[in-house]
Amino acid sequence: MLEMLGLYPQWYVPGIGTAWVMGIIGTIHVLASHTSVGAAWLFALLAQKSVSENKPEIMLYLKKYGMFLLVFSYIIGSITGPGIWYSVTVASPRGISGLIHNFVWLWASEWVFFFVEVIGVYAMVYLIGKIDNKTYLKLAWSFALASWATMILIVPILSFMMWPGNDQWYSTGSTFDAAFNLNYFAHLGIRTAFMFAVAGAVGGIIAATLKDRETRIEITRFLSKMGLAGMFLMLVMFMWYTATLPENARLIMETQMMPKYGSTLGALLLATLVYFIFTAWKPMYLRQGVAVVMTLAIGLFGLWPEERSRESMRKPYVAGQYIYSNQFFSRDVPGKGVVSDMPLIEAKGVLATNYFVPEELRKITPENQLRAGEVLTKIMCANCHSVESDGALRPLPPLFGHSDEPKMIQAYLDGALYHGKIPYMPRMPLPEDERAAMALYIASLSGYTPPAVAVSQATHSSSAKGVN
Ligand code: HEC
Repeated sequence: MLEMLGLYPQWYVPGIGTAWVMGIIGTIHVLASHTSVGAAWLFALLAQKSVSENKPEIMLYLKKYGMFLLVFSYIIGSITGPGIWYSVTVASPRGISGLIHNFVWLWASEWVFFFVEVIGVYAMVYLIGKIDNKTYLKLAWSFALASWATMILIVPILSFMMWPGNDQWYSTGSTFDAAFNLNYFAHLGIRTAFMFAVAGAVGGIIAATLKDRETRIEITRFLSKMGLAGMFLMLVMFMWYTATLPENARLIMETQMMPKYGSTLGALLLATLVYFIFTAWKPMYLRQGVAVVMTLAIGLFGLWPEERSRESMRKPYVAGQYIYSNQFFSRDVPGKGVVSDMPLIEAKGVLATNYFVPEELRKITPENQLRAGEVLTKIMCANCHSVESDGALRPLPPLFGHSDEPKMIQAYLDGALYHGKIPYMPRMPLPEDERAAMALYIASLSGYTPPAVAVSQATHSSSAKGVN
């Protein structure tokens, strides 16, 4: 029996690519989820302040803010959370499978804490003034700790996506080796710091509407201090974090991410600092609209580059430095019974070994080679590159200088990609005829028409359409 690859059907999104679909959902989710974790701490700290300094007015703010959280963070967070699951399952089935096989119990525990968190926010809002202060404080701190626990338990999974951090995991396959990898604590530190900063900004949206002047000043100043502390901690953690990255990630960060996003991030950092310092100094000047703009700016100019960078920096892998973004296994992982796909695609190619390739494309002929090239290009490249010239995700035609010469394109596939010479791209040791078909298709994106297709189109009038 012919050996087959364990690949799944390919999900192809024209223009923006699957990476952007996940990136957009992920960014919204991170904004909502980090806000809610940070806000849980804000709740506990402010409730403590209200009780110990005997300031019941603060509780009014908590009630208002809690309601806002319920509607904003929790609803948006719980819609986008499953959204991430749906999109990654089809965009990166082997990536998500690899993570589940490592972390299923960690995820299960996270959901328990999340459950506590959701009950917690209802308790916070609806039990204010209905139970005694001591019990309320206990609930508030449980809410804060349960919220933070969801982050503590999810970050190992996110860090593992960057890399396991040690070679041991490949042979043991143990969850523990995978979870407490080299960059875990620094990564947790950044996210914890960020949750304080973003909660400081979001808190202002409600603080600006408070009627009582004194409470408004007091809470706005509290938020500013929390925001500033978060920002400062985030800078320190970021320096630590970069020191724990693998070589390929550091290279991509320095050569691609910093030139692209460095000035945006710098400007945002400055704007956020100015915002928090100003609101600490003149709390009454804070307007709701300004806090809303600040929050959106953090999402758009801070989180989006961060999510995109983290995704780009772990290239060519999607997880664990053994699953390439295009879903092929790059190496053996004895601890998980994973076998590298490289020898099989080198020997038999991808068309013959992928279950989901249409039967008539299993063997390349002059008639089907353009269509075969399209299917191959979408399987091999589309996770990281749009095929449309004006696509949003590193479009292929411009990266090849809009070349319409199959020979020139094939030279790149034969050399750099075949041998895996490019640190941010997977190795693709495909057979000669598959490389030729891909080169033909990529050239056709810039205007080249293969002779065989001109003939067959005249007779069948059927044109190549994508694997959708
Ligand atoms: C794991 C993700 C990934 C996959 C899969 C991938 N690439 Fe890339 N590729 C990149 C990244 C990242 C860059 C750098 C892009 C930039 O500079 O904007 C890049 C750059 C390129 C370049 C520009 C030259 C260079 O060396 O930087 C070409 C050409 C290219 N890719 C072709 C391909 C082709 C053809 C395929 C499929 C056979 C492919 N890539 C698959 C990630 C990938």
